[in-house]
Amino acid sequence: MNETLILAIESSCDETSAAVIKNGSEVLSNIVASQIKSHMRFGGVVPEVASRHHVEQITQIIEAALETAGIEMADVAAVSVTEGPGLVGSLLIGVSAAKALAYAHNKPLIATNHIAGHIYANQLLGPIHFPLLALVVSGGHTELVYMPADGEFEIVGETRDDAAGEAYDKIGRVLGLPYPGGKVLDEMAHKGKDTYNFPRAMINEDNFDFSFSGLKSAVINAIHNARQKGDDLDPENVAASFQAAVVDVLVAKTIRAAKEKGIKQLLLAGGVAANKGLRQALTDAVASELPDVELIIPPLYLCGDNAAMIGAAAYTQYKAQDFASLSLNARPGLML
Ligand code: KG4
Ligand code: ZN
Repeated sequence: MNETLILAIESSCDETSAAVIKNGSEVLSNIVASQIKSHMRFGGVVPEVASRHHVEQITQIIEAALETAGIEMADVAAVSVTEGPGLVGSLLIGVSAAKALAYAHNKPLIATNHIAGHIYANQLLGPIHFPLLALVVSGGHTELVYMPADGEFEIVGETRDDAAGEAYDKIGRVLGLPYPGGKVLDEMAHKGKDTYNFPRAMINEDNFDFSFSGLKSAVINAIHNARQKGDDLDPENVAASFQAAVVDVLVAKTIRAAKEKGIKQLLLAGGVAANKGLRQALTDAVASELPDVELIIPPLYLCGDNAAMIGAAAYTQYKAQDFASLSLNARPGLML
């Protein structure tokens, strides 16, 4: 049978997810249980609370993924799981579940990188072609990843401080928005104007790195100053000005790296890939500056954390017989 079914498990942060993926490209099921409601009242993810939720959810989520796909463990070619990066307690729940399943059903185990997963989410839309460049923007990461071939990664630039999503969430908190602030700020940005002209750090520097902590501080200072003086603060203009600065830097550096590397495809990946302003600006910039490059932007359900993307990335490892042993451990600081 020319069909490889991978059962994939993802539990690196605050989503418990399991999926069944056929040949690295077709989603037979993708069950995602979000814990956001439990973390909202704390204004951020509480690791201990996250681990406890994963323990409660994981077995049912895996069963639901198999059932929705209409398969049993006997049909599965391998079990893949996110080994890192992420929260150690959260990762361990997925890793333990995957090891138990692989052992009990005598299946190969695949240890998959979460960031690789975000990139390979794009393979669920159609074939990806190398060489490619991926802009990975999430709550924990902001990096430009060059892939000369399937399964090969080279980080050409990354944030030196905050991740883009982290800056969104921190500003959201100062503005009193519910956690995570990214989505709401994005919506507000579309109703406001770029009146503040916040700094675009490192935009003209001769490298592909990013820095968002100065921008974050500038935005938070502007909010505090206005509050202290009793000035009217227009949160929609703050959101629009912040978003314009983030998007300008992300797009400028991505386009420059793409030109230097000479690529076939440009992929957007990670939770912040859901950002409407970023999606539009990147689409426009590629159309005008890189007409020969194919831009792939995942649909919203593949931007945030999910196990389908882990199953897509794991297929490359499956073909290379890159299997893990049952002594696999979680690796919270894992690099690509
Ligand atoms: O990839 P992800 O689900 O988790 C990590 O691996 O970090 O990304 C979550 C991040 C959060 O910071 C969230 O605020 C941000 O993605 N996010 C957005 C939007 N939707 C989610 N940021 C900006 N605009 C959005 N529309
Ligand atoms: Zn993620």
